Amino acid sequence: MFKILAKKILASGIKLFEIEAPLVARKALPGQFIVLKIDEYGERIPLTIYEYTRDKGTISIIFQEVGKSTMQLGTLNEGDCLSDIIGPLGCPTKIEKVGRVVTIGGGVGTAVIYPITRSLKEANNRVTSIIGARTRELLILKEEMEKASDELFITTDDGSYGRHGLVTDELKRLIDEGEKIDLIFAIGPVIMMKAVSNLAKQYNLKTMVSLNSIMVDGTGMCGCCRVTVKGRTKFVCVDGPDFEAEGVDFDELMNRQRIYLNEERLSIERYRERECRRNG
Ligand code: NAD
Ligand code: FES
Repeated sequence: MFKILAKKILASGIKLFEIEAPLVARKALPGQFIVLKIDEYGERIPLTIYEYTRDKGTISIIFQEVGKSTMQLGTLNEGDCLSDIIGPLGCPTKIEKVGRVVTIGGGVGTAVIYPITRSLKEANNRVTSIIGARTRELLILKEEMEKASDELFITTDDGSYGRHGLVTDELKRLIDEGEKIDLIFAIGPVIMMKAVSNLAKQYNLKTMVSLNSIMVDGTGMCGCCRVTVKGRTKFVCVDGPDFEAEGVDFDELMNRQRIYLNEERLSIERYRERECRRNG
């Protein structure tokens, strides 16, 4: 059993858990993820490791309540336990000194770009970060990203905080200012990663993305997480999650992410009905 030691609400529907998981903490590296189950009947949920503390034996995850299982996860509290965690899974992010790096986090994707940003800075890169959210209330990890980067720019779609616009507007501004960029690392909704990739391609800038396909086993056996990269099938869980953006078939990934939307909707309805009955 894996005990939740701390719970924080970062924004509406976005929560952080610090969990006792010493064996995972001992080996985790930036970019890797876990698959967790709430109980023996639970769905397997893949989540990126946000932070790990080896000496304390803990890992932290950040999740958004978007489906039945993440809603149920969000009801757990400090002291509760998860039945299963496997990990660390996936290839760690390749961290090396390349010069000037722009890291981009869209919405909850900011939780995934944070450890990568920190490591890139520790590797002596000059790191400019851009984080974006739909609105001020949904913005997460501002202080953490500020500390992890040399400079941070913030956008909101509605202009309620930072610059009014999308993360790609800010990236375009940086490119137009003419500074040399050696690497872009973008993580967020697939549509955002596609937009960053398209923009970067116009300027011949190398871009990495972390893909979030639907997963089941997380260990390369079920084929559920398959994506097409440069015309070849790759499994996000074992070949990724990081891929060079150029060559990723983002449209196919978006279509595959929608496969179970009806089932998910039904599952949420049933869960809400059950919860209503349980709470009288
Ligand atoms: P969102 O829809 O609120 O978008 C966040 C930001 O992304 C926006 O503020 C905007 O700046 C940018 N963006 C969105 N659409 C864009 C477009 N068409 N062009 C340019 N920029 C655009 O994001 P959310 O609701 O927080 O959703 C987070 C998403 O991130 C979910 O889809 C989730 O699956 C995904 N996610 C991905 C990973 C990963 O590893 N890639 C990890 C966690 C979450
Ligand atoms: Fe099953 Fe990747 S999740 S192969």
